[in-house]
Amino acid sequence: MKVLITGSNGFLGQHLVLHLSKEGFDVIAVSRGENRIAVNALYTYESIDLTDEFTVANVLDKYKPDVVIHNAAMSKPDECNNNTAACLKHNIDATEYLLQHCLPTAHFIYISTDFVFGEDGPHSEDDIKGPLNFYGESKLQAERLVEQRTGLNTIVRPVFIYGQALQGMRPSFLHWVKNNLEQGKPIKVVSDQQRTPTYVIDICKGIETIIKQKEHGSFHLAGMDIISPYNMATTVADVLGLNKDLIENVTSATFPEPVKRAKKSGLKIDKAKAVLNYNPVNFEEGVRLCFNV
Ligand SMILES: NC(=O)c1ccc[n+]([C@@H]2O[C@H](COP(=O)([O-])OP(=O)(O)OC[C@H]3O[C@@H](n4cnc5c(N)ncnc54)[C@H](OP(=O)(O)O)[C@@H]3O)[C@@H](O)[C@H]2O)c1
Repeated sequence: MKVLITGSNGFLGQHLVLHLSKEGFDVIAVSRGENRIAVNALYTYESIDLTDEFTVANVLDKYKPDVVIHNAAMSKPDECNNNTAACLKHNIDATEYLLQHCLPTAHFIYISTDFVFGEDGPHSEDDIKGPLNFYGESKLQAERLVEQRTGLNTIVRPVFIYGQALQGMRPSFLHWVKNNLEQGKPIKVVSDQQRTPTYVIDICKGIETIIKQKEHGSFHLAGMDIISPYNMATTVADVLGLNKDLIENVTSATFPEPVKRAKKSGLKIDKAKAVLNYNPVNFEEGVRLCFNV
C-alpha cells in the first residue's frame, strides 16, 4: 500500500515515515527542502512546497498514493498569528490542493490538533469547536474542507506530542527540561494548564490501525494522563534522577503570551480505545521510552 506523508521533515512526520516504512508500507515522504531524516529506512523522498498547486498535482499524479497523510502545517501558533496570510496558504490552501488532486479512492488522513477546541477540556471528538487563536482557526477550516470531500477521510487530533528526538529532529519540551536540569540551570514551568501529552509512537500506531481498518471520521490520539507542564517537568526529573528543586512552579501569568491558549485543554481517547484498540503508554513510561531509561 502506497502512503504519501506530507511534512516528513517535521517531528511527527519523521516518526511517521520511519514507523510506517518499518511496518512494510510503501512510503513517499514529502517536505520542503532537503530530506532531513538522518536514519536509514526504505522510503522515497520528494521535495515540494505544498502551496504550489502545480507541483502538488504532479507529485500526486506521479505516485497515485492509496493513502495521503496530510501532516505538514505551519504548526507554531505565534508564527500563525504574526503571519496570517502565510498561515492560510500553508494550512488551508495546501490542504485544498491535496484534496483536489489525490485519487478519489485515496484514504485522506488529516492531522489536526486540540487547538480546534476552546476551554473546558478534555474534549471528545464531537464537542463543539471554538478555537482561541488563528492557528486553531486555520486547522478547523482545513478540517471542514476534509469533511466535505466525498470518499474515505479521517481527522486525527493529537495533543502536545513528545518522543525521541533522533538526529535531524527538533528536540521537544522534555529535552529542554532535561538539558537545563543537567546543566544545573533553574527553570520556570507553568502548573495552571492541563494537557494530555501524546507519545509519538502511540500516534504512529493509531494511524497505522486507522489505515488498516479503513476508519473514517475523527479520532483523538492523545495520552492517558491529564497533566500540567510543571508535572511533566517533575516527572522528567524523577525518571532521570535530576534535581527537581530547580523547577519553579509558576502560573501562566509569568509568561504573558501574544496568542491565547486554553488552560484546560486535552482530549478524551475513549473512542480510539474502543474502535482502534488504542492503548497509549502512561506519561512516565513515555518519558522512559523517550530517553531510553
Ligand atoms: N507538535 C505538537 O505537539 C502537535 C500537537 C497537535 C497537533 N499537531 C499537528 O501535527 C502535525 C505535525 O506537527 P509537528 O509538531 O511535527 O510539526 P513540525 O515539526 O512543525 O513539522 C511540520 C512540517 O511541515 C513542513 N511544511 C510546512 N509547510 C509546508 C509546505 N508548504 N510545503 C511542504 N512542507 C511544509 C515543515 O517544513 P519545514 O521543516 O521546512 O518548516 C515541517 O517539516 C501538524 O499538522 C500540527 O498541526 C502537532
